[in-house]
Amino acid sequence: MKIIRKKSWQLNENIITSKELFEKRRSFIKLGAATLVSSGAIMELFANEKLPTQTLNYIKDKNINNLKLNTYEQITSHNNFYEFTTKQSAVKDMAHTLKTENWKVTIDGLVEKPMEVDLDDLIKMFDIEERIYRFRCVEGWSMVVPWNGFTLSSLIKKVKPLSNAKYLRFETLVDKDSFPDQNRGVFATLDYPYVEGLRMDEAMNDLSFLAIGLYGEVMPKQNGAPIRLVVPWKYGFKSIKSIVKISFVEKEPLNTWQIQNPKEYGFYANVNPNVDHPRWSQKKERVLGSFLKQNTLMFNGYEKEVASLYKNMDLTKYF
Ligand code: MTE
Repeated sequence: MKIIRKKSWQLNENIITSKELFEKRRSFIKLGAATLVSSGAIMELFANEKLPTQTLNYIKDKNINNLKLNTYEQITSHNNFYEFTTKQSAVKDMAHTLKTENWKVTIDGLVEKPMEVDLDDLIKMFDIEERIYRFRCVEGWSMVVPWNGFTLSSLIKKVKPLSNAKYLRFETLVDKDSFPDQNRGVFATLDYPYVEGLRMDEAMNDLSFLAIGLYGEVMPKQNGAPIRLVVPWKYGFKSIKSIVKISFVEKEPLNTWQIQNPKEYGFYANVNPNVDHPRWSQKKERVLGSFLKQNTLMFNGYEKEVASLYKNMDLTKYF
């Protein structure tokens, strides 16, 4: 399939950060310091250097599991975002076309309080916190990311789901000017909009997170600006980017990758080293920036928090 590529001069996130400060931060991250200290400490250092005005205020994650963070550079330069391209290293240079101004989110379906809300107003409704999570892509790479945002459950409580609301269905923006792959008609890589879903109890789990930033800065476009889902015990494709709509529905939604290839991708997509992808093993993963592979953990290391959600389910069938 022919992929349209944008030129390498096109944007990095330094359009939102003054050049000098951007370079300072770059050299700091290049030192590898970001992987050695907790994100809280990093943010203090950034603050001391009076780094970007875009810095979010948030409640810090204590990082009790001592997860080693990937650098900002790593997290923002290896991306899956098919609305731009399937080439992971090229997304960052193309993502400038995504228009995030005046972003609105529609919440509809089986709720007492549906709403169409400006993202800025939505964010004001919640305390922003940091969540340092492992993130495991179904393709076998992984990273640790300090996200900023709020719990999905806090949003769900505000809109008051009706008793027959059993699932949430999420949609990404459709906008041909923002996303080159949506402009390719029948040659588009996927059917758009990109859709994902969660069962209500999964969505209410405290780990399910709506992220509006990472490393204390507004979400980089290539990572799903201005608001994306993060579900750390599931393969990365569940973590839908650039969300414009959340619908509360009765039936299990068909998610994009299940539509695309139902033999290989299901609705649940829980990280599971014991259930291989039909074409490769899921036992190991390569952390971005590392040479050696490491063992993949059941539910990506969140077994304690989520195993009970699936206690009577055959995980080879509900993959
Ligand atoms: N959301 C949309 N709208 N489009 C996509 O192509 N890719 C998914 C997920 N969310 C994708 C998406 C996949 S396959 C992964 S692994 C993660 O985003 C990657 O997130 P990252 O680029 O922040 O690492």
